[in-house]
Amino acid sequence: MLGVLILVSLPSLVALVPPPVPCRHCCDHLEPEEGSGAQPPTGRFNHVPEVRTYINMTILKGDKGERGDRGTPGKAGQEGPPGSSGPMGSKGTKGQAGLPGDPCKVHYSAFSVGRRKSLHSLESYQALVFDTVFVNLDDHFNMFNGKFLCQVPGIYFFNVNIHTWNFKETYLHIMHNETEQAIVYAQPSDRSIMQSQSVMLQLELKDEVWVRLYKRERENAVYSDDVDVYITFNGYLIKGSIEGN
Ligand SMILES: *[C@@H]1O[C@H](CO)[C@@H](O)[C@H](O)[C@H]1NC(C)=O
Ligand SMILES: *[C@@H]1O[C@H](CO)[C@@H](O)[C@H](O)[C@H]1NC(C)=O
Repeated sequence: MLGVLILVSLPSLVALVPPPVPCRHCCDHLEPEEGSGAQPPTGRFNHVPEVRTYINMTILKGDKGERGDRGTPGKAGQEGPPGSSGPMGSKGTKGQAGLPGDPCKVHYSAFSVGRRKSLHSLESYQALVFDTVFVNLDDHFNMFNGKFLCQVPGIYFFNVNIHTWNFKETYLHIMHNETEQAIVYAQPSDRSIMQSQSVMLQLELKDEVWVRLYKRERENAVYSDDVDVYITFNGYLIKGSIEGN
């Protein structure tokens, strides 16, 4: 019977327990007015006056201190994305006109000659001469002595092609004046073959370039015939060494 009573009227149980003598204030009897929004006291026991202790920090604060030393700089941040390209610049002013060229000056030099006749070299040095002209600008190549005469100083490219004679030696040089520059050589063989040599030379005015044969103990010869040109000698200016060439 008592258990049921407790379960049914639990809120009233508080009232059944005799409260301790509460701390009383003179204003405790004042009930809040109806509709004021304040919670009405559920019992004397709940209405304990609040005592808030707070410290006024303003009083505790000391004078403002001196400014501290500047700290060490922090690490550099990551590189940002590239910015967009700027607007196109304005067009520049026109450049000055160059110096007038010399119309009389020779700017080019080139030759290409061939030989249709075979040749057995003599007992001594011998210039290889040619009988066929493919190109001979301003006759810089002398067909009578077989020598190119430099009239435009600069860097030249030269090339010689010959056909060997079977069972005979082939022994010739590309000459710069009286100095050998590059050799074309083939031992005697039962098979005749094409042979070639190329060289670049720095030439001054009046320098000569030519092909020289030399007979030693063995027969020295180059082959050609009337039907085909087996022997050619070619040269041309790559870059003139004087301004304007
Ligand atoms: C704290 O103290 C300062 C200085 O005495 C006063 O001006 C201020 O009004 C106080 N603040 C409070 C919340 O009492
Ligand atoms: C080549 O010979 C020509 C004519 O003799 C001469 O003028 C020139 O200086 C010579 N060149 C060299 C590099 O010896």
